Amino acid sequence: MQQLRGEINQHNQNYYQYDAPQIPDANYDELLRELQALEAANPELLSDDSPTQRVGSAALASFQQVQHQIPMLSLDNAFDDEEFAAFDKRVRDRIQAIDDVEYLVEPKLDGLAVSLLYQDAVLVQAATRGDGKTGENVTENVKTINAIPLRLKGVNLPKLIEVRGEVFMPLAGFEALNKQAVDMGGKSFVNPRNAAAGSLRQLDSKITATRPLAFYAYGVGVVEGLVLPATQKMLFELLVNWGLPISDQVSVESGTEQCHKAYESLAGKRPLLPYEIDGVVYKVNNFALQERIGFVSRAPRWAIARKFPAQEKMTEVVGIDVQVGRTGAITPVARLAAVFVGGVTVTNVTLHNEDEMRRKDVRVGDTVIVRRAGDVIPEIVSVVMQRRSEDSALFNMPLLCPVCGSAVERAEGEAIARCPAGLFCRAQVKESIKHFSSRKALDVDGLGDKIVEQLVAKEMVKTPADLYRLTKEQLSGLERMAEKSANNLLLALDKSKQTTLPKFLYALGVREVGEVTANSLATYFASLEALQYASREDLEKVPDVGPIVAQHVVAFFELQHNQEVIAELLTAGVQWPDVEAMSSVDQALSAKVFVLTGTLSLMGRDQAKEILRSLGAKVTSSVSKKTDYLVAGEESGSKLKKALSLGVTVLSEEDFLALIKDHQG
Ligand code: IVH
Repeated sequence: MQQLRGEINQHNQNYYQYDAPQIPDANYDELLRELQALEAANPELLSDDSPTQRVGSAALASFQQVQHQIPMLSLDNAFDDEEFAAFDKRVRDRIQAIDDVEYLVEPKLDGLAVSLLYQDAVLVQAATRGDGKTGENVTENVKTINAIPLRLKGVNLPKLIEVRGEVFMPLAGFEALNKQAVDMGGKSFVNPRNAAAGSLRQLDSKITATRPLAFYAYGVGVVEGLVLPATQKMLFELLVNWGLPISDQVSVESGTEQCHKAYESLAGKRPLLPYEIDGVVYKVNNFALQERIGFVSRAPRWAIARKFPAQEKMTEVVGIDVQVGRTGAITPVARLAAVFVGGVTVTNVTLHNEDEMRRKDVRVGDTVIVRRAGDVIPEIVSVVMQRRSEDSALFNMPLLCPVCGSAVERAEGEAIARCPAGLFCRAQVKESIKHFSSRKALDVDGLGDKIVEQLVAKEMVKTPADLYRLTKEQLSGLERMAEKSANNLLLALDKSKQTTLPKFLYALGVREVGEVTANSLATYFASLEALQYASREDLEKVPDVGPIVAQHVVAFFELQHNQEVIAELLTAGVQWPDVEAMSSVDQALSAKVFVLTGTLSLMGRDQAKEILRSLGAKVTSSVSKKTDYLVAGEESGSKLKKALSLGVTVLSEEDFLALIKDHQG
């Protein structure tokens, strides 16, 4: 127990005091739970200074200390449904509830807790949580955060109120900040939480002012001169009226089943949210009940955090290989000791290119932190340098293509090294066949990687058109291919011939032509012939298509070989229904990216979204450089500000209605 305490204290210090964690949160949680279990089994050995009894580390000496009149508590965690059910049972037992208990459900934001003191409506002090009893005075820094009002709005404001909430860094800002740091040769932040903590704890508030921090309130501490409303939910409404931001993902649920649904729903939305969350917080909604239920030293008994499966884990790099892709790109790939992270087992992770591999300094034998967020491909966040062995060596990219032996080329100013051999390189043939038959392309059911590998190795297939010449005899001669599966594959190949123009274009594998671009091309040109003979100028008129894509498309159709393969595919019977050419009005909105924010009083967001989508526009949730229009309803906040700073066209609800009216004709 002593050893565990020492270890945890050290990690606490790394995390809270130095903003430099050495292990992922999941491993930290594991250590803490191990200690909690030991202490529960040996209560006589429990000591006041155990890390289970407090939240973080003491404040840095360089900031002034702030004593929290009411301690800033932490939250207990539930890692599965049973643990949540046990929590709910404890709550119900305490208040002898017969009916379901009402909980306020909100996202668990991944930032850091702050306390904001408003005296006569004016922000007079801001402090970090610190160890829960003593925090750091970060007033000057907090005043630079636009999301935090310097003065509360409204009437009948309390004499004194301490608002508590989370300061965090939205993902777009985090990425921009890191990009900027890397461009300037600096160090990047490991994750948004560290970036937020590092930014808030700058001694120079001018630096904090340049950092894209945000804030959501989730509770209150000291209150004087106000009778609090009856529920957490009503308190939130009050806070909103005073001008404080609250998460837009809050709901009230009764009973475990509804609570579970809310968890699932937030887990589903998580990859789409513009900020990071690591779980869901449940709080008994009614304040009178909260009081009856009470708290223990470190956490309330009326609240719990239900954590999402860990998104970051530690593992080892057992090797580094290079892969040759469909377009000849040579990509270094780290082979990992299998690790379960973010709900899947990860054994490979791309290192993207040589520069990226050098930047992260990943080497064989390293211990690394692997991350998988939502449906995003897994990545190596950082190397745990403390664990690097002294004899570790840099990995050098090969000079020859590992598959066909051609000399690798790397164009000046390009990050990607390529094998220039095109379809003379088997790796590229194999990848282009896989791409051609993939689900979003011609969708050949049952043509797995192993079969493609054999077909290419035996030179039975050199181009996609060869697929349609395969015979039952040829196929049943392959490994893992019985007569029945050979028959099925032939049927699937036959079926794949009925396709659509966008799928066909995507299947061709023109560089930089993904699903979306293929769609735009198909809609714009309406026929393969029109596209085949399109000039660069014509192509650049298509929404979504810039000079680079246009150049790739022209280059693709200029190659005799590609024209032959296309002709063979058509002769084999590949076909699609006619595409209706788009009217010029529709083109103007198609593929435009919209973000909706604030209250749309005339239409409602869902309806607005539906109409935009029916016009071919895209609707996303966060504002970026790619956003074409921001539709700002009433009470638009941070998104409006961001749009203005990026020069995105902002439409009022009236402008917006006029715009879609034009397009709906
Ligand atoms: S309530 C009375 N609500 O999680 C309970 N905390 O693990 C105290 N956090 O220190 C906090 N989102 O930094 C609460 N919606 C939320 C939260 C939240 C994130 C953080 C907060 C807290 C920590 C506890």
